[in-house]
Amino acid sequence: MTGRQSALGRQMYPRTPDMTLSFHTVAVDGELFAIIENGVRLTGMPAFGDGSTESARGSWALVHFIRHLPKLTAEELSEMEQLNPKTPEEWKHSKRKRAS
Ligand code: HEM
Repeated sequence: MTGRQSALGRQMYPRTPDMTLSFHTVAVDGELFAIIENGVRLTGMPAFGDGSTESARGSWALVHFIRHLPKLTAEELSEMEQLNPKTPEEWKHSKRKRAS
């Protein structure tokens, strides 16, 4: 498992897939799109689509993002980590780092 595990994803059964693995090349882009729009029945995977053009655009952007994950560079990963929500502990730590 190379990806970061979220508290929610870690507890799921069936297991959530690791999007950083290249096994996703087995699915065609349209399948990934349908999974994101409609969810996966009998799993914790919700439907993110609402049938609108706007949600379709967002889902295609996610398909491209997922395709890119196996080739993610260390710089891209650290850039993404900066965008993650911070816990109160992490906020305190980053404020202390900026002050020094
Ligand atoms: C190839 C199959 C799958 C694809 C392409 C896929 C794709 C995605 C995407 C793009 C998101 C949104 C991520 C975000 O906004 O941060 C997501 C969220 C999620 N997926 Fe999947 N997923 C798949 C299968 C599954 C399965 C099998 C499960 C459960 C066993 C699952 C559980 C979840 C959960 C719990 C979330 C978070 C929902 C939330 O934040 O409210 N996914 N998935």
